[in-house]
Parts: sequence; structure tokens; C-alpha cells
Amino acid sequence: MTGRKSFGSDNHAGVHPAVLRAIIDANPGDAVAYGADERTGQVTAGLREAFGADGGAFLMLTGSGANVLGLGVLLRRYEAVICAESAHINTDECGAPERLLGTKLLTVPAADGKLSPELITERLTGRGDEHFAQPGVVAITQSTELGTCYTLAELRKLADFCRASDLRVFLDGARLANAAAYLDCPLAELAECADALSFGATKNGAMGAEALLVMRSGLAADAPYLRKQQTQLTSKMRFVAAQFGALLHDDLWRANAAHANAMARRLADGVAGLDGVQIVYPVQANAVFARLRPRHIAALQREWTFHVWDERESVVRWMTAFDTSAADVDAFLDSIRAAADR
Ligand SMILES: Cc1ncc(COP(=O)(O)O)c(C=O)c1O
Repeated sequence: MTGRKSFGSDNHAGVHPAVLRAIIDANPGDAVAYGADERTGQVTAGLREAFGADGGAFLMLTGSGANVLGLGVLLRRYEAVICAESAHINTDECGAPERLLGTKLLTVPAADGKLSPELITERLTGRGDEHFAQPGVVAITQSTELGTCYTLAELRKLADFCRASDLRVFLDGARLANAAAYLDCPLAELAECADALSFGATKNGAMGAEALLVMRSGLAADAPYLRKQQTQLTSKMRFVAAQFGALLHDDLWRANAAHANAMARRLADGVAGLDGVQIVYPVQANAVFARLRPRHIAALQREWTFHVWDERESVVRWMTAFDTSAADVDAFLDSIRAAADR
């Protein structure tokens, strides 16, 4: 790290002060372990209500864990998962769904990271044939790994298609807050398309807190046992609950996400029209993907932290977080302009 604000990931950010305070406030005295404490009960009830999740809310520590649990709840043993090639479950989880669930990922190239009924249909061959892994779940990400968001109409179309096609929907919501802020809609409206979904707090100002929401009670029976088997049942659950409690209070999660999104917008607007900088995906959440000349990237990386997303295409990813300031963005923009002029 360079000492300047990182544009590498929203995971590079620290913890929101209100979340830290909530952890400290939860500290005095003892509390029953494994989520049987009062605070966890209150927070999970709050999450269930916010999402309209009749099946329950299950807290855990990592987003990959929430993805594996969510898929595990929805899959039959011989079923496969249709997902975008760019999906985190496909690219960044060390094969956890395949390894831990014994499933197969049927990937689809999706230009903007979003699936559609047409793209899903391409992977529905072999249904009813015992020689093929049977597609059972469609996994989508909102906001996507490419910083784009499904519209509510797109989600409804996708959900209708999946229901009519006997496919369950899992939604990776590691950045669901950013999508809810972008679309200016309640969490429950986003959840309507899904049978199970994750809700990430870590990238939104928590220290390490994620939740799985199961939308229907008929689907939830296995979830507590699978969470334990998958080693995601943390004993001192009160501290995970405290983090969610702080973010749910007065919708701090939404303010954090809206701020991160606004900083990405500021960055994208700042590079618009700049010679040698081309934005490659619509900037809708808290990420900006841009194509730059390789020597421009190298010059910038001497001063700033960010990822080269696609080396061959010379595309970088710049991410903002709840604590990225306008001054951080403007200083970064100055460097981008200076490097572009060289
Ligand atoms: C889209 C998406 N899903 C899930 C995760 C889960 O991450 P982790 O297991 O690192 O908490 C991430 C983290 O970067 C992500 O970007």
C-alpha cells in the first residue's frame, strides 16, 4: 500500500466507527454462544423483516461461506449451478462450491456480468438425461462483479423465467447494499427474485459479517446444520450480530453504500473524455472499470493501489468504499490526468 487511499477493493477499507462502537458495546459481560444470545435474536429478526425472509437469517463470517451455504440449501445432490463466467463463485472461491457441495458450475459468458433468460437457456441442454449434471440453481450477483446492477424489471423477468423452468435462484449479495442504493429500493424488493440470498456487511463497513437469507420456510430446515458443517457457525456470534445491528440502525448500510457509489460516480465523471481512458462497463455501484495504456497503468500503480482486472485487455478496476472521500477521488484524478499527459 502507498499510504494513500486504496482504490483496490472495498475490502481494503477499515471498519466504520459505528460498527466498532457496537462491537465494544457488545463486549461487557457474558452472552450465550453460537447465536442463542438476545442480540443475535433481535438482529436476525430485523434482517428477516427487512428482507421478508420467512425461512430465516443466518449470520456468518465470510461471503464465500454465505455463497456455499446458500447454494447448499437450494441444490439437490446431482444438480448444477448456472452462473456468469465472471461470478465470484466461479473465479474467486478456490472451487469451494464444487469441492464442498460436489456441484458443477455451468458458466455463461455475460458481457456486463448479468444473466438473462436467453443466456440461461443456453445451459439448459441435457435436462432429464441422467448423463448430464442437472441445472437446478441459477446464481446471480447484485451488484455484479463488474460494478453493474440488474434493474428490478430484469430481476423479475429472470425470476419468472426460473420459476417457470423449475430453477431456484441464489443471489450473491456481497454488495447488495450498493445495488439497493443505486436502485433506491428496499432490500425486500431485491430479495423477491431469489429463493436464498446473501447480504454482505463486510464491504459496507463491517469488520467481518455476512448473512444468508432464506426466503421460504420450506427451504430452511437444513441451513443450521449445513452452516455448522461448513464451519461458519461462529461461537461469539454476538459480535457479528452487533456489526449488523450498527449497520441496520437508521439504515447506515444504505448511507455507506450510497456514499461509495457516489465516489465511483465522481471518479467516472472525472475521467470522462480523458484521452487514453475508456470506461468499459456502466458505473452503477462502487466500481469503475477502465481501459488504459499499459505504461499509464504502470505509472499510476507506482503511487496508487488498484487491481489490473484484465492484463490482456489492459483493463483496471478502481473501487470505492464507505470511507473514500471526495478529496481522495480528486487526488487520484489528478494523478490519472498527469499520467495520461506523459
Ligand atoms: C461478489 C462477491 N461475492 C462474494 C464475496 C465473498 O468474499 P469473502 O469470502 O472474501 O468474504 C466477494 C468478495 O470479494 C465478492 O466480491
